[in-house]
Amino acid sequence: MIWKTKITQMTGIKYPVIMGAFAVIGTAEFASAFSNADGLGIITAINYPDIESFQKELENMMKLTDKPFGVNFTIKSPLLLKSRVGRIEESYYDFLNVAIDMGIKIFTTSAYQAPELGKRIKNAGGYWFHKCATIKHAIAAQKRGADVVTIVGLEGTGFKNPYQNTTLVNVTMARRLLNLPIIAAGGIGDARGFLGALAMGADAVCLGSSIMATSESPASKNWKDQILYQDIFDEKYHKKIFHLELKDSPIGSMAIGHIDKTQPIKEFIDNLINESEQILKSWGYNSTVFSTI
Ligand SMILES: Cc1cc2nc3c(=O)[nH]c(=O)nc-3n(C[C@H](O)[C@H](O)[C@H](O)COP(=O)(O)O)c2cc1C
Repeated sequence: MIWKTKITQMTGIKYPVIMGAFAVIGTAEFASAFSNADGLGIITAINYPDIESFQKELENMMKLTDKPFGVNFTIKSPLLLKSRVGRIEESYYDFLNVAIDMGIKIFTTSAYQAPELGKRIKNAGGYWFHKCATIKHAIAAQKRGADVVTIVGLEGTGFKNPYQNTTLVNVTMARRLLNLPIIAAGGIGDARGFLGALAMGADAVCLGSSIMATSESPASKNWKDQILYQDIFDEKYHKKIFHLELKDSPIGSMAIGHIDKTQPIKEFIDNLINESEQILKSWGYNSTVFSTI
């Protein structure tokens, strides 16, 4: 089946699945496997201490895949920088210049507003994908010229917002309120979640926790074990995810309830797509093209 959405058209990927940004593990090894499996792999720039190591990693990525990929800039609010962990928007300008010179076209910004980076990405002819946690911030990003917004639902992991909604509320409402492509993130880890997100109005899904235990993920054994063995009905775990007790510690989200084994990323994505096609067939969908356009 051919999968056709505004995001597959914009990026040139075969399947509308986008890799999340990952502190620590969002490297070329992992991102190239994701791109080679026909999703959009993402290199997370925060993992590189300087321009030289970042440039080397992009060169490495280009050796490992000839498929489309993007770069993430995770932004810290200047007000929170006291901890010295993280980077404010302007720390990425040189990183952006290097990536643009190397021909990269897709950039994701996240965790905080990034209007100047967005402007620079667009002036250079790139696509600016902004990831946020509320519809309000998604509307602001659209006004500032973002090409795509990713909205992360409460059931997802990562930076939390006290006014965050669930993925279902986010995507259905964003579809009404925004007129740009939307990526659904938060809690997605199987074919039904993937198809559900497209039905709700998303043009692609973003996968974070559900791919952390794949073979190519450089996550530690401890991290992978949390993905494989965490009881998602455990009260403490539930509180961390739904009651904003997550803070900056990136534990796997509710999506891990779908994950019970380590497998190559290609196998994971192929299964997701094959199962989705089976479900569509069982609903009487017989076309060879699935288009949300
Ligand atoms: C280990 C880990 C590290 C992450 N690091 C970042 C990061 O540095 N920047 C960012 O924007 N999101 C980060 N995220 C969030 C993901 O990019 C994505 O938004 C989220 O995982 C989606 O929800 P899900 O986990 O339910 O799929 C991280 C997620 C995990 C699991």
